[in-house]
Amino acid sequence: MIKQRVLTGITTTGTPHLGNYVGAIRPAIEASQTGDNESFLFLADYHALIKCQDPKLVHQSTMEIAATWLALGLDTDKACFYRQSDIREIPELTWLLNCVCGKGLMNRAHAYKGAVDANVANNEDPDKAITMGLFSYPVLMAADILMFGANKVPVGKDQIQHVEMARDIAQRFNHIYASKKKPILTLPEYVVDDNVAILQGLDGRKMSKSYGNTIPLFLTEKQLQKHINKIQTNLLEPGEAKDPDSSTVFQIWQAFADETQTAEMRQAFAEGIGWGDAKKRLFSLINEEIGESRERYNDLLARPQDIEAELQKGAEKARKLSQSMMDKVREAVGIYGLK
Ligand code: TRP
Repeated sequence: MIKQRVLTGITTTGTPHLGNYVGAIRPAIEASQTGDNESFLFLADYHALIKCQDPKLVHQSTMEIAATWLALGLDTDKACFYRQSDIREIPELTWLLNCVCGKGLMNRAHAYKGAVDANVANNEDPDKAITMGLFSYPVLMAADILMFGANKVPVGKDQIQHVEMARDIAQRFNHIYASKKKPILTLPEYVVDDNVAILQGLDGRKMSKSYGNTIPLFLTEKQLQKHINKIQTNLLEPGEAKDPDSSTVFQIWQAFADETQTAEMRQAFAEGIGWGDAKKRLFSLINEEIGESRERYNDLLARPQDIEAELQKGAEKARKLSQSMMDKVREAVGIYGLK
């Protein structure tokens, strides 16, 4: 049986937080361990440049995110783990795709439209601060996906449209350059997992860097405890029954607990566990799950060359595929040596 190719990218901005861990990193690492699929995971550092023009931050964040995935046990023999910018064929394919992608398709992209709408609402020039990177970023993402013939692309809801655009672009390319019987590019499908938890942040809204309400994944124990203490609660005293289902403390608990532990905490809420107590238990539960990885993470950050070696190993594997894809694609469009 031919294995399905599953591919996803992680934009290298910011420091991973518990929401990223529960919603994306943990499920992806689990999926890559089953061996049912061929798994491609990459650091989308070209994408980072769209959001962040601080070179130090882009660089630092690439290192932290790579170290995070490695520390959490990503098996780089099973999954192909690489950095986008190491695959020189990706920007090359991006250009070829740009030349078949209708501008109208990009006009409809949510991220771009949202930026234009915000400018208009503020009485600004509609294109204020909108770069070509932001405008055409779905084409770069299409190249990421189509380069490796990905069948499935696990994403958050905000990225569904981009995977559909990659599909449209692939169809267009095939229509122009390939025979019906032998398409060159594989049409990808998005996968949205409704079962993974969307974690709440300190203020009860979705945990997100843009709300500034996150708990970073690898804090020291002390800092982790401090952050957990900042989770908003109500004023109920110890001894007063509390509603677990409207509580962020309970919601985060659930994301780390097994069924028995969840039932126990539900019971403790009914019996009026104090907030301080509940938070202490939450700290222990999280710390137990990520404590060893934190040590590996700190170790790795002290040895960037080892992280780099892992990325180079992934890049070598990835380049075998990207080079052969580019041979096909270049030939299809008429760009090859004279003979
Ligand atoms: N744009 C995605 C995000 O912001 C990251 C990404 C880049 C990606 N290339 C990709 C995801 C290819 C899936 C496939 O989350």
